[in-house]
Amino acid sequence: MDFFKRLLFLPEQASTFASKVDELHVFVLVATILASIGVGVTALYFFFRFRRRERHQTTEYIVPTVMTEFLFVSVPFVLFLLWFALGFRDYTWVQTPPRDAMDVYVLGKQWMWKFSYPEGPNGVNVLHVPANRPVRLLMTSRDVIHSFFIPAFRIKRDVIPGRYTDTWFEATKPGTYDIYCTEYCGLSHSKMLAKVVVLKAEEYENWVKEQRMGDKQNRQDALADTTLVSPRANLAQQGQRLVGEAGCLKCHTVDGEQHIGPTFVGLYGREERLEGGETITVDEGYITQSMMVPGEHIVSGFPNVMPTYQGKLHSMETAAIVEYIKSLRTRDVVNTASKGPVYEPVRIQ
Ligand code: CUA
Repeated sequence: MDFFKRLLFLPEQASTFASKVDELHVFVLVATILASIGVGVTALYFFFRFRRRERHQTTEYIVPTVMTEFLFVSVPFVLFLLWFALGFRDYTWVQTPPRDAMDVYVLGKQWMWKFSYPEGPNGVNVLHVPANRPVRLLMTSRDVIHSFFIPAFRIKRDVIPGRYTDTWFEATKPGTYDIYCTEYCGLSHSKMLAKVVVLKAEEYENWVKEQRMGDKQNRQDALADTTLVSPRANLAQQGQRLVGEAGCLKCHTVDGEQHIGPTFVGLYGREERLEGGETITVDEGYITQSMMVPGEHIVSGFPNVMPTYQGKLHSMETAAIVEYIKSLRTRDVVNTASKGPVYEPVRIQ
């Protein structure tokens, strides 16, 4: 393993994914190298064994036995299945963020990465995370397609304007690692670099506290970017203000009553029945899509009257509204079909 790591110049393994991804990588490499050696050696042997010995010699017509046919089909097939099983197991693992993961919002733009934490602090080009705790990144772009890549964690995911993509990781070793943009996004694409700083659990808590108290640098960074509503308030609080300012509350309520649109209370995580009969789970992606392309998935029983907020809300404002809606969870999930009792919003945090 170490030999391959050095041979292939692989970066450090600093997340739970890293060793698994590398093992799969090595498995694919070794399997393909062995297979091509096998094919090559057999071909050479056949060149020699069946070479033309006389001028008018013809190759005899060979009918393979059923057993030969069977082996030629089944052996590669079993290999492919093994390959699939190994890959699929790891793929679902990498694609499914654990439920207890800590959320961080990531905004890509020409040419920087911006990180916002639901509980308050935000940073430019430096992502602080605790070690040994799953972290989910909810990512979007303000302009063009970027791609978020942390080689040491073996994660990479496209970051797309007008849409949220997510990825997750669990860092295993405190330290500082590189973040790259791996989608050509304009002139300074190669300079779109950032760092992820992995801290021990208690150091991370201290860092969050420091951020809350408000260090000057962070405030300046935040003020430098006009998309941030307020540098200090947390995202849910910003969202609470924004839903009033943007006019969401004309059609959506925060007391559990259905109005022109579905209520925000208990919306996050709910299964909604759509106009077409299918169901959808309300997550960050669906809420964002509903703001940007409201007509795409209309909840059954509600009119298609919502205007688009594309271009009217910045990504971080969208994130703030999403966080606010997430904060309005109820103990019981309200069923939109029946006009049930009004629930007191329970603030989770
Ligand atoms: Cu952003 Cu390349």
